[in-house]
Amino acid sequence: ARVRRYKWEVSYQLKSPDCFKKVTVAINGNTPGPTILAQQGDTVVVELKNSLLTENVAIHWHGIRQIGTPWADGTEGVTQCPIMPGDTHVYKFVVDRPGTYLYHAHYGMQREAGLYGSIRVSVPDGVVEPFSYDEDRSLILADWWHKSTYEQAAGLSSIPFVWVNEPESLLIQGRGRFNCPSLLGGPSTSTDTGVCNTTNPECSPYVLTVVPGKTYRLRIASLTSLSALSFQIQGHNMTVVEADGHYVEPVVVQTLYIYSGETYSVVVKADQDPTRNYWVSTNVVSRPPKTAPGLAVFNYYPNHPRRIPPTAPPPAPAWNDTRSRLAQSRSIRARRGHILPPPAAADKTLLFLNTQNKIEGYNRWSINNVSFTLPHTPYLIALKQNLSGAFDPAPPPETYDYAKYNIYEVAPNTNASYGDGVYRLEFNSTVDVVLQNANTMNPENSETHPWHLHGHDFWVLGYGEGKFDPAKDPTTFNLADPIMKNTVPLHPYGWTALRFLADNPGAWAFHCHIEAHFYLGMGVVFAEGVDRVGRLPNSIYGCGAAPKQ
Ligand code: C2O
Ligand code: CU
Repeated sequence: ARVRRYKWEVSYQLKSPDCFKKVTVAINGNTPGPTILAQQGDTVVVELKNSLLTENVAIHWHGIRQIGTPWADGTEGVTQCPIMPGDTHVYKFVVDRPGTYLYHAHYGMQREAGLYGSIRVSVPDGVVEPFSYDEDRSLILADWWHKSTYEQAAGLSSIPFVWVNEPESLLIQGRGRFNCPSLLGGPSTSTDTGVCNTTNPECSPYVLTVVPGKTYRLRIASLTSLSALSFQIQGHNMTVVEADGHYVEPVVVQTLYIYSGETYSVVVKADQDPTRNYWVSTNVVSRPPKTAPGLAVFNYYPNHPRRIPPTAPPPAPAWNDTRSRLAQSRSIRARRGHILPPPAAADKTLLFLNTQNKIEGYNRWSINNVSFTLPHTPYLIALKQNLSGAFDPAPPPETYDYAKYNIYEVAPNTNASYGDGVYRLEFNSTVDVVLQNANTMNPENSETHPWHLHGHDFWVLGYGEGKFDPAKDPTTFNLADPIMKNTVPLHPYGWTALRFLADNPGAWAFHCHIEAHFYLGMGVVFAEGVDRVGRLPNSIYGCGAAPKQ
């Protein structure tokens, strides 16, 4: 195993990813940042310098379990203090499994400003994967706003509430295309071609060049802040072979649905008419779309990469076709021969009702009526040092009143409150979490929430429609070939059941991956085996009741 060293500088950069110029947060001048390339078992060392003048930073290695290094998870407030302007912080961890992972800012809503990238971990030399391909490429999908993250965050925590609204653009590998002329009549600066300029080369579409006859593994990841997406390559089928770092039974799709925090590998053969180019397109699903499709060019060599495909991009799937999305979620099964079966039963079951509600006049999201707030002292430090007063010692609720609660109606949820308690899990126990969706504060509306667990993978035992019945529904769980993932969608008015082993000493966030939802309280923290955690490095200290050691 090797050591892969990276030196990164995080700084503000004026960029035009969708032709509109705004301040982004970049790594070594770029968004997306550099791709981390490693092999299973390697140690990754990232020396991160925060050159933002006015802002803290922390970077999370999404999908990397951090076994033995819970302090390197990069989750501000949970596993470390923020890295302050001018400071350098070293992240050091082992990538113990091959697969497709991500990294992104985990401080406030900073991810949305462009601080993210890919991690690609290949199999050790001599190990053969259960599918073959000639080339390996990564594509990150994202949504993009013209307002700053600070303005958005301020709106979310204001009375009256100001929602972030739908994104202005969808980006494929950091490139999108906003319709600049639509700004005419807006504020005078926006009509200035220096601010929105469709001829800026920074916003020319991303080009994926393929050689006719060759087979490509595309590692598709979503780091949207809000949107659930569909992904298509015009005229081409895609065979899904990997999800969140685990092999899956091959499934052929024309449209791949992907939620924020998920990664998929698809295998695509360049077997269509090679005399033309094709569109790669992504569209918003699950919310009424107000954003133009994100487009890239699937370029057949030797056609000119800028040659516009001769036919229009494929039509987007219906945004409200929840059934098709649920069907795709259910269709993905663990790859035979690569199945690690789940324990037959759980030691503990947590039933998490996801609701939107008002607390003291503020719009919030809550789990079992508790809206999460981050304490000033990171949980990992507070738990390890037994600091009292760092967070509420009372455990948060493990269930809700499922007999009475009507998930199809706007509920007043008047007893919702803020909370920063921790779910303490017995080390090595088996935990089931059933996420239960409900109506939002708007009539006849329920949203999609991609839930992401730090420090673990979980088995996805099932997805259901309506209200989960703890007496009946567990009999429908798939214990034979469930996939393992780190991020899973909770579909509108549905439930999602997952199981994991609390076998990784540390404190771990579990939250909705929608940036604004987590910001508004849609998350919890699990802790297990903290007494087994090794000596915490000094570098994670420096905030709250955890001054620099
Ligand atoms: Cu990718 Cu806590 O997030
Ligand atoms: Cu959410």
